[in-house]
Amino acid sequence: MFDNPAFKPQEEPVRLPPEASVPVKGKERIPSMAEAKKTRNPVEPTEQALLKGKESYGIFCVPCHGSSGKGDGPVGKKYVPTPSDLSPGGHGAHHSDGELFVIISSGVGGMPAFRADLTPTERWQIVSYLRTLK
Ligand code: HEC
Repeated sequence: MFDNPAFKPQEEPVRLPPEASVPVKGKERIPSMAEAKKTRNPVEPTEQALLKGKESYGIFCVPCHGSSGKGDGPVGKKYVPTPSDLSPGGHGAHHSDGELFVIISSGVGGMPAFRADLTPTERWQIVSYLRTLK
């Protein structure tokens, strides 16, 4: 016990998966921005998907980006720089679908990452929904 390779307080245990195991919930690999440019949205923008995207957007994005996407949510007003305008013509809308996916997954600047809170499918649904903003 004395010599055990224990990790220090606050340190993540380094435990490798058993050989030949297949991760089922393992670490997700987020594409790089360069890869993201070429990645298309695997989620078809069906009515159902857009509704799910709208629902998630309402929960996770509206506080900062506002329901219009213009970056005027109640929490967002306190941010410097303020959250990007995601509506057509805004800075956010210039990104490809894949880039939006990466930004939602990993965050950017003052914006938090959402890969722990939203499944990849949920994030892609949000990307589809963003395309419907007026
Ligand atoms: C806590 C506040 C906050 C939340 C919640 C938030 N954002 Fe952001 N977001 C920001 C801020 C602030 C920026 C600007 C970051 C910067 O440029 O430093 C930003 C930037 C972005 C950008 C980059 C656009 C550009 O101009 O390049 C996208 C896309 C985006 N957010 C989408 C989303 C989506 C989709 C959600 C919901 C899943 C979300 N954000 C949730 C604060 C937030």
